[in-house]
Amino acid sequence: MVDDEQHKMQRVNNNIETPVLSKKGFIEVQNLSRSFQSTGTPIEILRDVNLSLGEGDTLAIVGASGIGKSTFLHILGTLDRPDKGRLYFQGEDVLLFDNSRLARFRNKSVGFMFQFHHLLPEFSALENASMPAMIHGFSGEKAREAAETILVRVGLQDRLHHRVGKLSGGEQQRVALARALVMRPRILLADEPTGNLDTQNSDQVHKLLLELNQEFSMTMVVVTHNMQLAAFMSRCVTIANGQFVEKC
Ligand SMILES: Nc1ncnc2c1ncn2[C@@H]1O[C@H](COP(=O)(O)OP(=O)(O)OP(=O)(O)O)[C@@H](O)[C@H]1O
Ligand SMILES: [Mg+2]
Repeated sequence: MVDDEQHKMQRVNNNIETPVLSKKGFIEVQNLSRSFQSTGTPIEILRDVNLSLGEGDTLAIVGASGIGKSTFLHILGTLDRPDKGRLYFQGEDVLLFDNSRLARFRNKSVGFMFQFHHLLPEFSALENASMPAMIHGFSGEKAREAAETILVRVGLQDRLHHRVGKLSGGEQQRVALARALVMRPRILLADEPTGNLDTQNSDQVHKLLLELNQEFSMTMVVVTHNMQLAAFMSRCVTIANGQFVEKC
């Protein structure tokens, strides 16, 4: 692993600075494995994966289709369970949480931007972005207030009441980002957040991700094919033979 001193040499581009790595131990993944069996022998997608991230760290996961990027992100976000291994957030093994505690943890602490945005097209940007706050138990008014604040922050002040299905791809991804961030989670997991966008829109979303990482001191793990975005992260890995390998 590259040591912290080296990471303090910040790379600067487009006036965005990569964050200085903080102390490790905010997220600890230990000996995590996951296999899938469709037909015949199980295929081991992740094999004894280890990872340590400090608060505010940013990690890019890059590499070919099918190597296990989404699988890892889903396990990290507790949407899927590994076959074995431990997953600590601030020293607590969340894999030992019961379902309701796990749901609360996910709702409050983890923001997700999915590979396919999973927004509700018939609902407005405001309704979509306020959903996690409603689930958390905020009143309708408080949830809408929180959603409006973050939608304005991602530049959608003129699209609050538009149906998401009528928005452009870039706008939809910014709604997805607002929904992921409405609870001000400490961890943002983004799975190819700009995979389907043109260069201009994807640059805008990248810039937002990096700005918000600093503004909110969020720990961020981003799966991307965009090496320019990956290069802005404090660390960048790929998966080979089920294990992380440093990449850029
Ligand atoms: N629920 C599942 N059942 C069976 N196989 C699965 C399941 N989920 C994932 N896989 C397999 O595990 C492998 C890794 O899938 P994953 O979605 O993590 O890849 P990825 O690196 O995110 O790829 P992409 O860049 O195409 O999104 C693939 O071969 C996939 O078919
Ligand atoms: Mg994927």
